[in-house]
Amino acid sequence: MSRRAGGGQGLPAVDLRLRDLELRELMDDPDCDPRALARTFRRFAVVNSLVSGWRAAWRTHVVPALPASGRGRVLDLGCGGGDLARALVRWAASDGFDIEVVGVDPDPRAIVAATRSVPRGVSFREQSSGDLVAAGERFDVVVSNHVLHHLGDEERAGFLGDSERLAATRSLHSDIRRSASAYRAYALGSVLVAAGTFVRVDGLRSIRRSFTLPELRTALPTGWRAESAAPHRVLAIHDA
Ligand SMILES: C[S@@+](CC[C@H](N)C(=O)[O-])C[C@H]1O[C@@H](n2cnc3c(N)ncnc32)[C@H](O)[C@@H]1O
Repeated sequence: MSRRAGGGQGLPAVDLRLRDLELRELMDDPDCDPRALARTFRRFAVVNSLVSGWRAAWRTHVVPALPASGRGRVLDLGCGGGDLARALVRWAASDGFDIEVVGVDPDPRAIVAATRSVPRGVSFREQSSGDLVAAGERFDVVVSNHVLHHLGDEERAGFLGDSERLAATRSLHSDIRRSASAYRAYALGSVLVAAGTFVRVDGLRSIRRSFTLPELRTALPTGWRAESAAPHRVLAIHDA
């Protein structure tokens, strides 16, 4: 991987050889500006639709894991502002599936943002993966977006263990694949959508915290596999 990025887009040069686990996202500050946070949740819906590759992942990795009846329950762990949960029911309807999607997040600010728009087939709850395991819940497929890079080693092990227990068929966790080109592309593109939000700073910090494919392979527990998805994505997958 090219070692450095930035330095030319109004940003200091950064070293991308290693994950930068010291970085904290502005959104994670409980005292951050609530209006900027609300705008950030809404704007991440735009960013996710452009960069997260979920439309393809839905077809290649979620659909094959749904029951043959075409009906199923999908869990979005760490749903944030809820855009992935809403997109999944939309894609399901247009592809002839009838699914229920439950989005959970232990951060009450995320659930306030998510519940601003709750289409038919979607529900949001202020819960963690551990809460759902304790309640004995099960889903056909468990997904997440941009959660893995967010967690420390112990939290990630707990999160993935919870995911295995919650998924009857498949767990699919999608995240950014760290590289200098991903960093450069986001530094340039995010300028267009970042005004008044934490989207640019937090997105760039997220890239610096995220995994390369070999790093993710090493970090995943036994029984999980890592795949790369274009562009700039990694997937962590577990089949029950
Ligand atoms: C970087 S945000 C991603 C939000 C959203 N998925 C998106 O793509 O915009 C990570 C989220 O994971 C949530 N989270 C962390 N640990 C979790 C757990 N064990 N169960 C469910 N959500 C969790 C956090 O509260 C946070 O909102």
